[in-house]
Amino acid sequence: MLNFWNSSVGKKVVMGLTGLILVGFVLGHMAGNLQVFMGPERYNAYARLLQEDIIELTWAVRIALLVSVTLHAVAAYQLTRRNWSARPVEYAQRESQVSTYASRTLRWGGVYLFVFIVLHLGQFTLGWKWLLPEYVRGAAYGNVVLAFERPLWVGFYLVAMFFLLLHLFHGTWAVLRTLGVAKNAAEPLQRRLPLIIALVVTVGFSLVPLGVALGFVR
Ligand code: HEM
Repeated sequence: MLNFWNSSVGKKVVMGLTGLILVGFVLGHMAGNLQVFMGPERYNAYARLLQEDIIELTWAVRIALLVSVTLHAVAAYQLTRRNWSARPVEYAQRESQVSTYASRTLRWGGVYLFVFIVLHLGQFTLGWKWLLPEYVRGAAYGNVVLAFERPLWVGFYLVAMFFLLLHLFHGTWAVLRTLGVAKNAAEPLQRRLPLIIALVVTVGFSLVPLGVALGFVR
């Protein structure tokens, strides 16, 4: 077991499997969030489901997410360190061959997403007043509207969704490769399934802050 974790391939498999768990949550969370367009009752019912309806389920999901995010980030960090120490001197000339913008921004995008998740939980789940002074526990709809009436938060979320797009696009493609599901596809346009998942999630989430900012949700 330890040997597996210590190998680079082992870390990539762990990253892939934990990534799949996170994608599953993100897809469900996006669908739940779109209910904001159906009014406060419906949206608050979804938020209650997330937070307290079946408390054992809530904690099972929370623990699974926490373990997944931690393993995903630790493996990514260790793989990055390994790559950097394998090549401590930068290439004199660095021409990307088959890499895409998405693959090259994966690490820093991941760091931004990590900061996003911490602030996001602070804002909507933990109710940190310095992030949202008018936060009311149990009133998820109102909290979301209050947050996205502020352009700063709309911008912060849209940038996060942009990184999520890149991260999901490259990440889901990479996991299909690591687990041996996808054939060799150096050509980025062959990555249709990852592109669809990434676009659906990103557009779905972005509609929420945009819906408030444009006055469709109030
Ligand atoms: C526009 C985008 C998003 C909106 C409007 C949104 C909204 C919310 C709200 C209102 C809650 C609190 C529910 C409650 O406790 O009452 C919540 C919880 C949460 N959100 Fe989001 N979310 C968004 C995007 C994301 C993304 C992209 C991620 C992950 C990458 C994420 C991860 C979470 C997690 C882990 C929780 C905590 C669930 C729990 O309490 O166990 N959210 N979100």
